[in-house]
Amino acid sequence: MWPDSLAFGGDYNPDQWPEDVWNEDISLMRAAGVNLVTIGVFAWSIIEPEAGRYDFSWLDRVIDTLHAGGIGVDLATATATPPPWLIAGHPEIKPVTADGVRLEFGSRQGYCPSSPIFRDHAVALVRELADRYGTHPAVRLWHISNEYGDHITECFCDVSQEHFRRWLAERYGTVGALNDAWGTRHWGQVYGSIDQIPAPRRMPGPANPSHLLDWRRFSSDALLELLRAETSVLRDVTPNVPVTTNFMSMFYSLDYWRFAAELDVVTDDAYPDPADPHAHLDAARNYDLMRSLGRRKPWLLLEQAPSAVSWRPINVPKRPGIMRLGSYQAIARGSDGALFFQWRAPRFGSELHHSTMLPAAGTETRIFREITVLGTELAAIDEVAGTRITADAAIILDWDNWWALDADESMPSVLMRWRAALQPFYRALYHAGVTIDFVRPDDDLAEYRLVVAPNSYLLREADANRWNAYVAAGGTLLVGPFSGVVNGDAHAHCGGAPGPLADLLGVRVDEAWPLAENASAAIDIAGSVDTATIWTEWLRAADADVVGAYTGGVLDGLPALTRKKHGAGSAWYVSYLPVDAGPVCDLVLAACGIVPAPDGIERVERSDGTTSYLFLLNHGDTAVDAAAPVGEDLITGAVSAGQLRLPPRGVAIVRHGAAAAAATRGDNR
Ligand code: GAL
Repeated sequence: MWPDSLAFGGDYNPDQWPEDVWNEDISLMRAAGVNLVTIGVFAWSIIEPEAGRYDFSWLDRVIDTLHAGGIGVDLATATATPPPWLIAGHPEIKPVTADGVRLEFGSRQGYCPSSPIFRDHAVALVRELADRYGTHPAVRLWHISNEYGDHITECFCDVSQEHFRRWLAERYGTVGALNDAWGTRHWGQVYGSIDQIPAPRRMPGPANPSHLLDWRRFSSDALLELLRAETSVLRDVTPNVPVTTNFMSMFYSLDYWRFAAELDVVTDDAYPDPADPHAHLDAARNYDLMRSLGRRKPWLLLEQAPSAVSWRPINVPKRPGIMRLGSYQAIARGSDGALFFQWRAPRFGSELHHSTMLPAAGTETRIFREITVLGTELAAIDEVAGTRITADAAIILDWDNWWALDADESMPSVLMRWRAALQPFYRALYHAGVTIDFVRPDDDLAEYRLVVAPNSYLLREADANRWNAYVAAGGTLLVGPFSGVVNGDAHAHCGGAPGPLADLLGVRVDEAWPLAENASAAIDIAGSVDTATIWTEWLRAADADVVGAYTGGVLDGLPALTRKKHGAGSAWYVSYLPVDAGPVCDLVLAACGIVPAPDGIERVERSDGTTSYLFLLNHGDTAVDAAAPVGEDLITGAVSAGQLRLPPRGVAIVRHGAAAAAATRGDNR
């Protein structure tokens, strides 16, 4: 089974049900095509009801019953909620907010990431589980903790503060080096010893941005240490069982590049909001990120809602067809399956109103019917499992940059945030039908025709040098506004923005010119008008072609969009945040020879190098005749001869030869 086939299933909480329900669960799971379930995620207090006394009897029976039913297990290490006895004995495990409030037990995931007591007990539990189940044939995957950073992303208690100081001592060696890196001469913060440094609890005014940046790095690393503590036990005891921890899509607080490096398979929990008409765009972006985090190997959609969730203020259900379409969207972008939260409707607890695969109203329900159709379909398209995706373009994502930009409390505009900068560029490339990988700023970029840095406020000189080399070798780089402003310590680059990109881009930023809320600015690009929101700049094109200029307003006539050629390569700078980056991206795509396919159909191709599978997804409410390669639709068996009719919210997966795929994309690499 997985990863040789597509996984289908969900979270399963048999510990919340009498055992006579289990057999019904298994037979209904089989009817629905379920082949993998996640169990035990929040079961610590049941498995270890008091310190050192373990009760595995129910878990033994559950795993054996699932195995007998042919269903594999994604076994949680159960460390996501510390048990009440541990909290009662060690109340210092409870996390503390920036205001000094200690959060009470009674929800979930309420632990201080730096607590050695929590970590030691968690690791002991993991060892017990690994010893007991590591060789059980049903166990396909270890599910470490749950959504690190959900609820608690940072803790400000004294234990965390000590941990932060140790982390700083390791990073800087001496307090002098730290004072230099943080620029503590500003506002009189020169420290005499690392022991004087506080966790950035609530302060009278804005905090030192370098202090905040290191706090974000530290807080991510504190949770990473927990992940490493668990993986090291599992790798030691059960080296053949792959490990994962479920990510939360594009998540601010954790540097997922560093987390993903610890995992065998990247998994994601995706909850696009059915009330948001653009939710599928953000979902596509998140799935591209998951694939990229896993170094472009298949990943796994481990949780999604069959219909409504229960944690938004208003929880709109998914209309018929949306759950199926969203599942295929994840698979199109590299997931080797589709799983849900959760299998059976609960009888109690905080998630009573969350949709489930098997609703409280039973099997004669819309949701169960849709689930069963999807499970049956996925079982018949197993051949796509393991296939890969090749992208022409890449977007640079650097958590250090995200944190430097978003955490600093003294910026030109609070609206200029990483997600705001990313959104127009990702969406424009999506609408143009371009497949995108995410890359780190120090990744090898050579294989991409186009690399986009929507914003690189924090940019290290070494990374800028790599981007220079990429363009010199013929690559096309598009850099978004407010880039090259500070270095890795959050110190300004001398000479102003775009700092180490100044020669590459051929521009100088005289002054950041953020726009008032809801204001806009106009840019003339070869006679057509583009609109900026949030951000513009007083820009000089020292040594670059002016492709677009501000028109009207204070910046009238100044360069807005520039290009500097470097042999076959070129470096573009867009000094404003476009409402719609389509016009800018169209120019850049044309320059680097990527042929857009903007017909409103989402197209992504998976391939094993010989056979290719072109996924066509219609997110619209009307049927579309979409261009398609000659081949067979895996779902309906229909043969496409250049065109295929996709009903509203319809999906096709056209199997065809790899060479034919390249021709369809206009790709002659
Ligand atoms: C996830 C979590 C699950 C469940 C789900 C509900 O964040 O991992 O345990 O709570 O949300 O949508």
